[in-house]
Amino acid sequence: MQTKYLALPGPTMVNNEVLKEMTSEVFNHRGKDFYKVLQNLTEKTQQFLNTKNQVYYLTASGTGAMECAIVNSFSRGDKLLALINGAFGQRYADIAKTYGLEVIEFHGKWGQSFDYNKIKNTIDEIENLAGITVIQGETSTGVVNDLKKISEIKDEDTLLIVDGISSIGAEYIDIDGWGIDVIITGSQKVLALPPGLAIACLSDKALEAYNKSDLPKYYWDIGKYKKFAEQGQTPYTPAISLIKAAEKQLERMAEQGMGKEVQRHQIIAKMTREGIKALGLELFTEEGCRSNVVTPIKSPHGIKVAELRKLMLEKYNVEVAGGQGKLKETVFRIGHLGNVDPLFMISVLTALEMSLMELGYDVDLGTASKAAQEVLYNKK
Ligand SMILES: Cc1ncc(COP(=O)(O)O)c(C=O)c1O
Repeated sequence: MQTKYLALPGPTMVNNEVLKEMTSEVFNHRGKDFYKVLQNLTEKTQQFLNTKNQVYYLTASGTGAMECAIVNSFSRGDKLLALINGAFGQRYADIAKTYGLEVIEFHGKWGQSFDYNKIKNTIDEIENLAGITVIQGETSTGVVNDLKKISEIKDEDTLLIVDGISSIGAEYIDIDGWGIDVIITGSQKVLALPPGLAIACLSDKALEAYNKSDLPKYYWDIGKYKKFAEQGQTPYTPAISLIKAAEKQLERMAEQGMGKEVQRHQIIAKMTREGIKALGLELFTEEGCRSNVVTPIKSPHGIKVAELRKLMLEKYNVEVAGGQGKLKETVFRIGHLGNVDPLFMISVLTALEMSLMELGYDVDLGTASKAAQEVLYNKK
């Protein structure tokens, strides 16, 4: 079988050993074995997230976890400031509106960092601000938002609700130090598992807010997850096979040293950017806030995103993502998260070079991969 290069910002490639766990025997989630697995997984997840806060496992994609974060933290009519500089920031706002929150949308430019002074002024103008939602890694635009700054400019009573779905493990974060009240992640991103498992991590302050929250919830009622977690269980049948795979993957990560994940992603991201720049292509994301997870690139004049992606996939078996929302026609994105390594990125860049050349773009073959390799030897 020809190797498939999944250069998407999720789902990401799953290691074979981890994949094998998915086929191991299914067992009782109310028994002793599951208790042990959940205890071990919880410990490893807390190490991965570098937090003392409790973590909960949800059978859902990332969006389910976003909804879970909202319904457990707020009450009808609460004021929520939604920081939006991409498609996922808007999604948090839309979910909150669905549940009757008073949502104040703060819009930044797509592909750029927020103006944090303006955010501060907005915060100061809102009386009784219950919470702020923000995406750490805006996968749609390749921007990393500065959670530390946001934590510094908000009041202590205002809950900080973060989407770390694609960024957790690839970007630096200090959940406890920055007072992040709710943060969520998904299995198909840096954790490099099949999709379907989400993790929510809640501070004590978030759990206090839960006790006061009057938003409707049943499946997402985090109080039930908390009660069952104390007995080493989940309230409803969990995705047992995914939980086993997650345990395996986190054990692998622990063996390699948990703190090393961010650095590994940083290097591969830099290789990608240098390769792209060497080809004379333009990065969509402004310098200073570029993500370790995904690199959005403006398609060169005369080359259609759809055509480029089709050629890369059909001829070279490399799958890159298109632009999201309003960027669909003009931007393509290379994902570089999860089980990625230097040779993976060199292969992806090489396929890109060849495809661009075949579509008529003036390319000196080997330029991108050379620039990427030089990153490894600190020449860039
Ligand atoms: C930052 C971010 N938030 C939310 C989501 C939505 O996750 P899902 O598609 O798993 O529901 C994604 C998925 O790409 C994402 O990257």
